[in-house]
Amino acid sequence: MMRFVHLTDTHLNAPGKNGQFPTSNHFEKVEQTIRHVRETGVDPEFVLVTGDLSHGGDVEDYIFIRSLFDEASRQLGVPVYVVLGNHDHLSAFRQGYLGESPSEDPFYYVQYIQGLRLIGLNSQVSGQPGGRIDDVQLSWLENQLQTPAPKGTIVALHHPLISLGGYTAKGLLVENREQIARVIAGTDVKGVFAGHVHSNLFGISQGIFHIVAAGTAFTAELEEGRQHFQFVDMCGYNIVTVNEEGIMVQAIDLPRSRTEYMRIPSKGALSK
Ligand SMILES: [Fe+2]
Ligand SMILES: [Fe+2]
Repeated sequence: MMRFVHLTDTHLNAPGKNGQFPTSNHFEKVEQTIRHVRETGVDPEFVLVTGDLSHGGDVEDYIFIRSLFDEASRQLGVPVYVVLGNHDHLSAFRQGYLGESPSEDPFYYVQYIQGLRLIGLNSQVSGQPGGRIDDVQLSWLENQLQTPAPKGTIVALHHPLISLGGYTAKGLLVENREQIARVIAGTDVKGVFAGHVHSNLFGISQGIFHIVAAGTAFTAELEEGRQHFQFVDMCGYNIVTVNEEGIMVQAIDLPRSRTEYMRIPSKGALSK
């Protein structure tokens, strides 16, 4: 049995910079999350963060995020794996987080954790809210999946791969998701982990479990009447258990004020 923690959408900025919402300390919410994981004895094998690591996406943001995630890793005694979201910037991430020279090369990888294969994909497209997996990455993925992993595979990316809960607007999902679905169908992929939507959404497609986590920075809720999304002071993360039988997800909702930061019209984001 393998257990891991799935966080998403931390939307962090370096200290001293204006945050996303004046009244929200996104940094404190990551600390609250890690403290909860530690104090409740979750004992994960790793932590996965599915993008929008940063809100502003500058080099200093990534230097700060790296130190925060390194501290989380030290406290929990396990590695932290990340993928990038639409608020992230590749070049600044490579410099600030990875300590590499600036480059717009997509960030994707494969990692084995006690026989479980984690494939991190880069669905982020610079300057766009929506996601896409480019052809080079797609053939790399196809190649990887030709050999099954001892304990199966999970895929992590920022933008959801299937239309969940009626969220259909361009910008919410991966543009070429049918193409990706064809690549992962019939392979040993058990689950696809994403974020971006700031809501807990779960779905199944072609036998593959799709999990979208709520996010630590805020949650986007549909107000009564479904006319607006309210961005609310909430903080959540998921505890994921993977074994021979399948995947179980426990969604954790940490105590927060639930006050509204802002709202945007839902028009165009939902279908019947
Ligand atoms: Fe986000
Ligand atoms: Fe996002």
